Amino acid sequence: MRNEASVRPAAKLGVRGLTQQFGVRGGNAALTVLKDIDLEIPAGKFVSLIGESGCGKSTLLRIMAGLLKPTYGEVRHDGAAISGINQALGFVFQQDAVFPWLTVEQNVEYGPKSRGLPKQERKRLVAEWCETVGLSNFRKAYPKHLSGGMRKRVDLARAYANSPDVLLMDEPFGALDVQTKAKMQEAVLDLWQRTGKTVVFVTHDLEEAVFLSDLVVVLKSRPGEVHSIVPIEIARPRSEETRLSDEFAAAKRALWHEMQTAREPRS
Ligand SMILES: Nc1ncnc2c1ncn2[C@@H]1O[C@H](COP(=O)(O)OP(=O)(O)OP(=O)(O)O)[C@@H](O)[C@H]1O
Ligand SMILES: [Mg+2]
Repeated sequence: MRNEASVRPAAKLGVRGLTQQFGVRGGNAALTVLKDIDLEIPAGKFVSLIGESGCGKSTLLRIMAGLLKPTYGEVRHDGAAISGINQALGFVFQQDAVFPWLTVEQNVEYGPKSRGLPKQERKRLVAEWCETVGLSNFRKAYPKHLSGGMRKRVDLARAYANSPDVLLMDEPFGALDVQTKAKMQEAVLDLWQRTGKTVVFVTHDLEEAVFLSDLVVVLKSRPGEVHSIVPIEIARPRSEETRLSDEFAAAKRALWHEMQTAREPRS
């Protein structure tokens, strides 16, 4: 029996008893992708989900966003059950989701415009977020004239301009080269620190998880279950130098160990 008292109301997102099954094409059997997930995402924290390919990270994030209804269980946002797409939860996908036919500023303005914000407020938001992500000089540019890293910045500005309460990011920097990725990680930490908004970040990059997170949720595969939750207690703000520190190396080792044990078959 589930212990209701174990889910504290302070959680920004609470996942309870979540199981996700998908039908197998051509057969009656169901594939259980996620099983009995109970998870609390504390308000204001940076939490990463890590696990090997196919363990269900994207599925879990899509369920958290309300993009997919789970087979069993529920997700609560500030204590209220999520059903359907929730504007308070922003989503950044692995592939950038910028509209190629709109300029940078029109892309950033898109969400606030759809929500019916007045023009003055939209102008303010566009200026603020283009500046914050370092794209003020590229406001009139079309995405095809931007680098991959710059398009990611447009994606982040778009997500933040909607003032989401929680940002859900699914391997947003997976396609970037190492140096651009490092810069984007610093940019995302800067945004997180400025806004104080809770972030749930999917990655399979151990170093990325350590650099960014307060907590790393290690998932095991087939079915995806929570293996462990690893706190990363490295001081903030974190910078390039953090990556060279002994404590960073030690945290990476500890997380590596957790990921190894997550792969071991059950005894
Ligand atoms: N809509 C769907 N229908 C059927 N099976 C699905 C569906 N979506 C995901 N799956 C299956 O669920 C499992 C988990 O997929 P998911 O995309 O969540 O994994 P992941 O951990 O994000 O992997 P990766 O690191 O490669 O992105 C996979 O076996 C996938 O084939
Ligand atoms: Mg995925």
